[in-house]
Amino acid sequence: MTTWLVTGGAGYIGSHVVRVLQASGRGVVVLDDFSAGIESKVPDGVPIVRASVLDRVAVEQALRDHQIDGVIHLAAKKAAGESVDIPLEYYRENVVGMLTLLEAMQAADVKALVYSSSAAVYGTPMSNPISEDFPMQPESPYGETKVAGEWMARDCGVANGLSWIALRYFNVAGAASDDLGDPSVNNLVPMVFRALSNGERPQVFGDDYPTPDGSCIRDYIHVADLAEAHVAAAARCETGVRAEAFNVGRGEGTSVLEVMNMVSEVIGTDVNAEIVGRRAGDPPASYAATAAIESELGWQASRDLRAMVSSAWSAWQSNER
Ligand SMILES: NC(=O)c1ccc[n+]([C@@H]2O[C@H](COP(=O)([O-])OP(=O)(O)OC[C@H]3O[C@@H](n4cnc5c(N)ncnc54)[C@H](O)[C@@H]3O)[C@@H](O)[C@H]2O)c1
Repeated sequence: MTTWLVTGGAGYIGSHVVRVLQASGRGVVVLDDFSAGIESKVPDGVPIVRASVLDRVAVEQALRDHQIDGVIHLAAKKAAGESVDIPLEYYRENVVGMLTLLEAMQAADVKALVYSSSAAVYGTPMSNPISEDFPMQPESPYGETKVAGEWMARDCGVANGLSWIALRYFNVAGAASDDLGDPSVNNLVPMVFRALSNGERPQVFGDDYPTPDGSCIRDYIHVADLAEAHVAAAARCETGVRAEAFNVGRGEGTSVLEVMNMVSEVIGTDVNAEIVGRRAGDPPASYAATAAIESELGWQASRDLRAMVSSAWSAWQSNER
């Protein structure tokens, strides 16, 4: 049995990853500074290291104490818009954090890494679907930090045989259970729920894009499917693969208005969305080519938009009570 350290394991995605890793029979340890994480999301019995990935001594100690075989590195700041205003905080948490983790891994001779990357590395794609060999042209400091993380992993792969996989997540939604919902308000589905809870109309940023219904198109992926992709990636790293970046999406574009319609269907009442102006920096469309992860890791998403919206709504309501 191998043991994996999950940084950011008390967060939205990390708490799902911890559960599927456990279910796969692997040992799991969580390292989190609880800047955004919630302790009750870590299952009973999973050891928690309360530390920042910026703390080199604490990370190396955790790797040695728990005889870690590999790391799934999710701990990061994640709001692209915010990163434009406070870029240095993003560089510190995401880039220095990754650097510090890699130094600690090298010192403790831990040679497997699954890294949380993002579709933000592509910026506005030249066409869709986006395959992994498209140029990385991030359009925010956040996206830049994710590119820098991939570069650091790549270079460590060459220099010291690090076996790594970067997973470029598209738009994550849903919850595996009511206690694991997405509490942040950066993503579309929770933004809609928050507006409804506040008695406001959810906003659609632009309906004049060159898309069939004029609203932006994205690739929505259920967090439970995404979590399973981490297990597939960890299993591959355990075999000593050198280096790879994979898109994690459904390979299907869904417009913002289609999401609004699905929310209306799920909650049983029209959300009555309000069309407002475009937001700066939103590409008209972004969805993944998924052939590589399907053929290389044997992973494919199985949950649809309705499952995402209905599980997210159920989790949201349970938090409101
Ligand atoms: N949610 C998305 O739609 C999405 C999309 C693409 C990529 N990602 C990436 O996935 C990862 C996880 O995202 P999430 O949605 O679960 O976010 P989240 O904020 O819920 O989780 C991040 C976790 O990391 C912890 N953390 C932050 N900085 C830390 C540090 N310096 N040291 C230790 N722990 C720290 C937080 O306390 C939190 O528990 C991030 O790397 C993010 O960039 C998320």
